Amino acid sequence: MKLKKYYKKYKEDKARGKDYFKWLFSYTKPYLWKIVLLMLISVSMTYLSIQYAVASQKLIDMAGGGQITSKAIVVFVFLMVVMLVVHVIIDMFTAMLNEKYTFGIRKQVYDKLLHSEWLGTQRFHTGDMMTRMTSDAGNVANGMVNVVPEIIVLFIQLVAVFITLYINSPFLAICALFLTPGGILLAFLIGRKLKRLQIKVQETETAYRSFIQESLANILVVKAFSNEEMFSDKLAELRENRFYWVWRKTKLSVGSNLVLSGTFQVGYVIAFIYAAGQISRGEITFGTMTLFLTLFGRVQAPMAALAQQLPGVVSIFSAAGRIMDIQDIPLENRLESVEMKGAVGVEVSDVSFAYAKEEILHDVSFDIKPGEFVAIIGKSGIGKTTLIRVLMNFINAGKGNIEYFDEHGTRTKASASVREFVSYVPQGNTLFSGSIRDNVLMGKLDATEEEMWEALDMAVCREFIEKLPDGIDTVIGEKGVGISEGQAQRIALARALIRKSPFVILDEATSALDEQTEFELLQRLGELSPKPTCLLITHRTSVLKYCSRELMIDNGYVTMQDL
Ligand SMILES: Nc1ncnc2c1ncn2[C@@H]1O[C@H](COP(=O)(O)OP(=O)(O)OP(=O)(O)O)[C@@H](O)[C@H]1O
Ligand SMILES: [Mg+2]
Repeated sequence: MKLKKYYKKYKEDKARGKDYFKWLFSYTKPYLWKIVLLMLISVSMTYLSIQYAVASQKLIDMAGGGQITSKAIVVFVFLMVVMLVVHVIIDMFTAMLNEKYTFGIRKQVYDKLLHSEWLGTQRFHTGDMMTRMTSDAGNVANGMVNVVPEIIVLFIQLVAVFITLYINSPFLAICALFLTPGGILLAFLIGRKLKRLQIKVQETETAYRSFIQESLANILVVKAFSNEEMFSDKLAELRENRFYWVWRKTKLSVGSNLVLSGTFQVGYVIAFIYAAGQISRGEITFGTMTLFLTLFGRVQAPMAALAQQLPGVVSIFSAAGRIMDIQDIPLENRLESVEMKGAVGVEVSDVSFAYAKEEILHDVSFDIKPGEFVAIIGKSGIGKTTLIRVLMNFINAGKGNIEYFDEHGTRTKASASVREFVSYVPQGNTLFSGSIRDNVLMGKLDATEEEMWEALDMAVCREFIEKLPDGIDTVIGEKGVGISEGQAQRIALARALIRKSPFVILDEATSALDEQTEFELLQRLGELSPKPTCLLITHRTSVLKYCSRELMIDNGYVTMQDL
């Protein structure tokens, strides 16, 4: 039974392993030739350093003989300069490649996230996504640009020295070879454990970062409840937790290094005893023994260095896995866009939706006619925002059908492309840091100055904006810091209205406005020609007088009523 479980786990690991390689390869492909070039330069550096050693030895020999030729000095100095230059090239090339590779991963993951299902992205804390896209992406890049080429170079060195040793003493070479499988097995076993620890380290880093980011973003709440001490202690606690895992990982990697180099030391002792035995029997000279031991040491050095690269390799895989997790979020459905003419209506039939087990919407059916103003009402937490998310395809209702249509018979099913003709003012403060102009133009990037002011007028913004010292170019902070809640809400309205969409959805978009401002806004919206269809989620009865019907959500069901 247990064996079966292990086998299953092994199978799963193997399948995931294949994915890792595929993923790593797809990201490495654009940089492959540059990495190979870097590797070749590194190999040539090894060659240069050997030549440099030979040249210095020659120079010393000449000095011993009392005669130094100027050619020898020139060669020596030349090699030194070339090595310095190559060193600089390697450093610069590595830094550039590292940066490009990391950015390449970030960009691709970012682009993927922008086109992924919204609900899937919501499962991750922003701090978590940030850690995966920065620290984990960096680990992968460092691994692929530094660690892997280093391993390949070491391997080449190892093979070359091994062949030389084999030619000189087959016995010792075989001896060295026998130690290798042991080393590899050990590295494999430790590697798996190390990977688990590395994932833990990254998880604690995520928790730490998310905590800092969230508490700084909500610093007002921390202060309001005099929770400064508690937050400070909590940060220390998170750091302790992180330290615990970092320490365990460090102990394991230092320990494994010790064991691996210890194994190689044992090999050295065996070689030493063997060679000493041969000397005592007069089979070899001291000179040959020195050569044997030097060569044996040369096999060991790259082997020990390879062992030291283990944590780097482990980092690549654990980081790749963590990035793959966010990349696994499915892409959202986007049908070919259609051009809607005039006002737009929507037909919803038998739509059900559940975030988890409990259905928020249960077999919901209703029609909204083109140009109609409908109020969506219902208790807090009943599913009003959820219904909008389904209509805009931010979440995909597994069951049912949603179709938009215009007065000329053009129809399209709900998908990400309906957002081209549906404008949305989300619940809560959704402004970006930057100028008010930037925020409004987000609705229509190529809008003219005139269009912008038209939208601002409709959203009753002109008066307060003209009073600001920098007017429309006033820079606001994150989530609209620097202006009032109602002003932020009106800018968000202008951002949606600038699109002149035939279908407008307002999720409590007038909740922070006084009745007079709300009246002006909805009045202007209703007077537009052609009149847009408008869904207004509201808790306020004042809004109802602008609507012809109300859509009431209760207990997962929807009822429509004329007003
Ligand atoms: N991302 C989510 N994941 C899981 N459950 C969610 C998510 N968003 C909302 N819910 C749940 O779905 C239910 C409906 O939420 P929704 O936001 O649609 O309510 P609402 O009617 O808009 O409420 P309010 O008037 O307070 O804005 C709630 O019980 C909420 O707990
Ligand atoms: Mg809501």
